[in-house]
Amino acid sequence: MRIDIVTIFPEFFSVLDISLLGKARQAGIIEVTAHDLRAFAHDRHRTVDDTPYGGGAGMVMKPEPWGEAIDSIVGPAHSDALLVVPSPAGEPFTQAVARELAAESHLVFACGRYEGIDQRVTDHYEGRMRVRLISLGDYVLNGGEVAVMAMIEAAGRLVPGVVGNPESLVEESHEDGLLEYPSYTKPSAWRGLEVPPVLLSGNHGAVAEWRREQQIERTRRVRPELLAD
Ligand code: ADE
Repeated sequence: MRIDIVTIFPEFFSVLDISLLGKARQAGIIEVTAHDLRAFAHDRHRTVDDTPYGGGAGMVMKPEPWGEAIDSIVGPAHSDALLVVPSPAGEPFTQAVARELAAESHLVFACGRYEGIDQRVTDHYEGRMRVRLISLGDYVLNGGEVAVMAMIEAAGRLVPGVVGNPESLVEESHEDGLLEYPSYTKPSAWRGLEVPPVLLSGNHGAVAEWRREQQIERTRRVRPELLAD
């Protein structure tokens, strides 16, 4: 999978060198490049933003650097890549969306700052490639970088070969629409707290049943709307 990120903070993504995704990059499973948007701004101050037409607070990112930056990645014509624009105005990011991103061969992330990117950028690229606005949640971040980091981590670990034991992906929160059951390891007693005896019983059927009950109980308590779905 190829991932390109356009941002005014390319150094932000250096953390992708470490941990599981770092290994996946070294193994050539995921190829990530962070591009500096300012390299595509040509005035002396490398300006990427300006005041909004119609007035209002804040600054809007200018379309020209974005057009040059994205063209430099996808070429001048139609592209099979998916352009992802993190935005609090986008569709919610879920495990299902992470799975869809993981199935793509080329993702281009456009990290906006300030009050967002001039609307014509997505309008233009919608004519040339698939474009998705995706929100991490109902809150406002200073920019798209943290959201893109979360999306790359969630989607990247679903790319075959990234997580060593694929079975560990199956029994996680949200994979079956429920929250995960609680997990325990040794010792069996710690600070007066015992591991639930069923987990020590060796009875696989009883363990599976207990875990399922815990999932439903947790989901009912914390996220009842997931059960309604
Ligand atoms: N940029 C700013 N806030 C955001 C959010 N909640 N999700 C995605 N991108 C964002």
